Amino acid sequence: MDGTKEDLFLRIFHSPAELLSSAPGRINLIGEHTDYNNGYVLPAAIHLRTCFLAAARPDNKVRIWADNFREEETFDLKTIVPSEERRWANYVKGIFWVLMQEGHRLGGINAMIWGEVPLESGLSSSAALEVSVIKGLCALWDIDVPPLRMAKLAQRAENDFVGVKCGLMDQFISVFGRKDSALFLDCETLDYAYYPLNLEKAGLGILVYDTKVRRKLASSEYNKRRQEASQALEVLKIKGVRSYKDATLALLESSKGEMDAVPYKRARHVIIENERVRRAVKALQKDDFDGLGVLLFQSHESLRDDYEVSCPELDLLYDVGKEFPGCLGARLVGAGFGGSGIALLEKRVGEEFRKRLLAKAEKRGFPKPEFHEIAIGHGAEASKINKSGGS
Ligand code: GLA
Repeated sequence: MDGTKEDLFLRIFHSPAELLSSAPGRINLIGEHTDYNNGYVLPAAIHLRTCFLAAARPDNKVRIWADNFREEETFDLKTIVPSEERRWANYVKGIFWVLMQEGHRLGGINAMIWGEVPLESGLSSSAALEVSVIKGLCALWDIDVPPLRMAKLAQRAENDFVGVKCGLMDQFISVFGRKDSALFLDCETLDYAYYPLNLEKAGLGILVYDTKVRRKLASSEYNKRRQEASQALEVLKIKGVRSYKDATLALLESSKGEMDAVPYKRARHVIIENERVRRAVKALQKDDFDGLGVLLFQSHESLRDDYEVSCPELDLLYDVGKEFPGCLGARLVGAGFGGSGIALLEKRVGEEFRKRLLAKAEKRGFPKPEFHEIAIGHGAEASKINKSGGS
């Protein structure tokens, strides 16, 4: 338990915290923009987490202190409406809203949130926040919500309350993540399996390169990609496929004349990216990291050229990675349009690689990037705090 945060909680609310929960951000090894297309993804939880401390109140009032922003939002359970000026609060309100929609009886709380997942960086700080809050609220009031339902409710809060039509990947991995493992998820059947990521043994590491580019239009562009991919699928459905997972490149090519150029490109990305995820799983099973790296580069090319969600700063990671001995693979991660990329690197070249990227970014006049060496962490957890102190 973070003693100082608990003390701070006491100072702010004049009563002790009863519950601590936390949930991780994620990287995605491969399978980008495939989740909402009912395809395959291969994410892993990271060691950076968002934390939630809470205590029940006797009334309907919710007071949330966001320690990173040093801001407080207060609302009444009877009127949960999105906040214009404090967007972070909407992820918390969305969880209250969705649990109440489900018929759960909630009371007021005092709560504090803080986190280490960089915001809007493609590492899924929003899912980490949503999941830490839903995990915490369910534990606080002994509400029995099974893990899959928890991930789905957190996604619904983001889709319908916050208004971002994200897929299920981020919430799912934040709930189900397992230390030192990647998780393969079939987003249609929701079957999943863990694969050990034996990077350390191979002398490898994953470096996150945060471009520091934050695009205002990211969520509207995201929703647009979703529509374009589903337009192409409608055409393929007429040819008898049920979902992208059944579609082949040959079928897409033979249908090219029946769809616009843009949906065609989106579909090409989704069909081949699904195949890459399957190949990545095979590579992981053999600890074939060279093979995995090649797939990462290919995924970036496809996201850049066909799905068109990259930007010059993210392309720089790919370009440097491609020519840098000891970089096995690199690509943008998450929705794109800025945010972060990942590089699969031999540990011994990590320092040199960062220096090269910093120098090139500076030369091109890009924002100064930030780097995070990532450890693969575990999923959400919650524990009650006993009266004598610790959790
Ligand atoms: C964001 C969304 C996910 C997923 C990725 C792209 O992170 O929240 O659901 O669609 O983008 O793969």
